[in-house]
Amino acid sequence: MRYLVTAALPYANGPLHIGHIAGCYLPADIFVRYQRLIGRDVKFICGSDEHGVPITLRARKESSTPQQVVDTYHAMMGKAFSDFGISFDIYHRTSDALHHETAADFFKTLYKKGVFTEEESEQYYDEEAQLFLADRYITGTCPKCGNPGAYGDQCEKCGTSLSPKELLNPTSQLSGKPPVLRKTKHWYLPLDTMQQDWLQEWLLSKEDSWKKNVFGQCKSWLDQGLQPRAVTRDLDWGVPVPLPDNQGKVLYVWFDAPIGYISATKALTPHWEQYWKSPDTKLVHFIGKDNIVFHCIIFPAMLKAHGDYILPDQVPANEFLNLEGDKISTSRNWAVWLHEYLADFPGKQDVLRYALCASAPETKDNDFTWKDFQDRNNNELVAILGNFVNRTLVLCEKYYAGKAPNRGELLDAESVCLQAVSEAPRLVRESIEKYRFREALSHVMDLARAGNKYLADTEPWKHQKTNPAYVETVLSVALEVTATLAYLCEPFLPHSAEKLRSMLNIPARSWEEAFAHTCIESGHILGTAALLFEKIEDESIQYQITKLHNTKAALNTEETTALAHKPQKPSTTYETFSAMDLRVATIIAAEKVEKADKLLKLTLDTGIDTRTVVSGIALHFNPEDIIGKQVTLLANLEPRKIRGIESNGMILMAEDADGKLVFVQPSRNTTPGSTIN
Ligand code: 2FM
Ligand code: ZN
Repeated sequence: MRYLVTAALPYANGPLHIGHIAGCYLPADIFVRYQRLIGRDVKFICGSDEHGVPITLRARKESSTPQQVVDTYHAMMGKAFSDFGISFDIYHRTSDALHHETAADFFKTLYKKGVFTEEESEQYYDEEAQLFLADRYITGTCPKCGNPGAYGDQCEKCGTSLSPKELLNPTSQLSGKPPVLRKTKHWYLPLDTMQQDWLQEWLLSKEDSWKKNVFGQCKSWLDQGLQPRAVTRDLDWGVPVPLPDNQGKVLYVWFDAPIGYISATKALTPHWEQYWKSPDTKLVHFIGKDNIVFHCIIFPAMLKAHGDYILPDQVPANEFLNLEGDKISTSRNWAVWLHEYLADFPGKQDVLRYALCASAPETKDNDFTWKDFQDRNNNELVAILGNFVNRTLVLCEKYYAGKAPNRGELLDAESVCLQAVSEAPRLVRESIEKYRFREALSHVMDLARAGNKYLADTEPWKHQKTNPAYVETVLSVALEVTATLAYLCEPFLPHSAEKLRSMLNIPARSWEEAFAHTCIESGHILGTAALLFEKIEDESIQYQITKLHNTKAALNTEETTALAHKPQKPSTTYETFSAMDLRVATIIAAEKVEKADKLLKLTLDTGIDTRTVVSGIALHFNPEDIIGKQVTLLANLEPRKIRGIESNGMILMAEDADGKLVFVQPSRNTTPGSTIN
């Protein structure tokens, strides 16, 4: 039997945070490291999901291209994964040519088999940009809560899922204009007929083997009745639909992304078909709960329709991790970013792995707090695991100059402790096989607790003078516990496991080798004791909490300011801009216009003439205060009569969100008539 383990391909549109790791990558990594240790044939597949609208939106926001965006984040995410010891066999990417080819072939096979239905529907189109608009490119007023900035797929204020046609006053994000409805054709996966044919039966057969949260979601989709799903989109970023007349359409990102697991396996090994097409392989998808429908329903439907592939055996989806009581959000910057964590806590990858595994959202949403993180480190890693290991190794250095002592007669306390040593691997193994990683980790820590209790009960430091032979036995047993911990920690805390092995001077071993016999024989030369974990002080934790709240405060100010400003006007041409004659002028006289509160009559030296301009700024400036000031003049605006006075041009003013006006001036006085280009 072999395993093919996939972890959801993260979107390459932002850095990774703790929610990613806790939800999907850490449990997957623990599972795979364990499979490797027990000697199973396993491949661990991941890569960047580089298509889809969020990436095109990010590119627009950053004034760059989608390729530049994905290049940046693909590199950044790959580094963060490797820094945290997430041990993929390959970290691939969906903008790769091999993926495009694999996804296009997959589509063509389904197309040729007549799997798809074709439907024409009306979708919003931006006439100015000449593009159909993806849901995220349309904003408007939420019909439920009146939020004027709701997106075509969701209102982020009240959380309602929307379709673009439900928005009131829809506006295209591309041109700023209202879009029009236009007909477009797409290909659909007929999930409704598949439900009847086989999908329902297959899913229902998973009731006892899949996690409750996963099966529950599938069941509720089935109960609602599956609907055909469009697998193509009108977008210019993605895998082009591989048909001659594709009208610029691409594959829907959720059609191509899971095929990314296949293309990554192809890139990894020429024997990729063994993993994808043999009934001896168990396919396991690690994901977050928002991906359940895609991995339990849509992707299996695609695989089955293709015909050559196996279907997933397990989809151990986790729930969500919150942060300090609030939902983690990339756009609101409410997150602990992995690269920032590593900069603030260098070398402490395993502490985060430990904290995230110990409170992983396996059965329900869970909350990460910095206080809990500190407690996990100080009260568990340092006080239990680190303390036990350190006491054992330091005593061995002190009493035996770092050489493992002899084991003599075993009393009750020794038997109890060695019993814990022999049971722990089985307990850990059973929990991992059931995808219960928190429980598995707690078995590891229980062994460390048992070790601490053993030392506390036997107090070897008190008996060294009176009963040195017994102390040798005690420390030999304690060393056995330490070595067992080193091997059991490997899937969870790989960096610390390696450190511990080097302190014990023992090699990496498979579980069978490690647990078949005593790990440390008497006379074995130990390595040097060092601290495995260090206490984290209150100041470091306070720093993190303050940093988090500061970013939130900064963002709130930004949001308020952004809301207060008028939206950007529709785009204009360079020609329109260059037709305007903008130049510097000096105000040489100013007076109020009779019976008009708001108007001032200004006399300007424009460098080319002296002229009159009537300006609506009387509520903001006293005439006498502005004489001699330089301003920007739109000189070639058609003359207009205002209150009987001919106005020849317009002066430019900057208006802030509160309506306050200031002149737009050169940064220092310059010759009147200087042109502004
Ligand atoms: O939710 C996400 O982040 C998606 N990019 C996951 C894709 S998983 C797979 F299908 F590729
Ligand atoms: Zn709303």
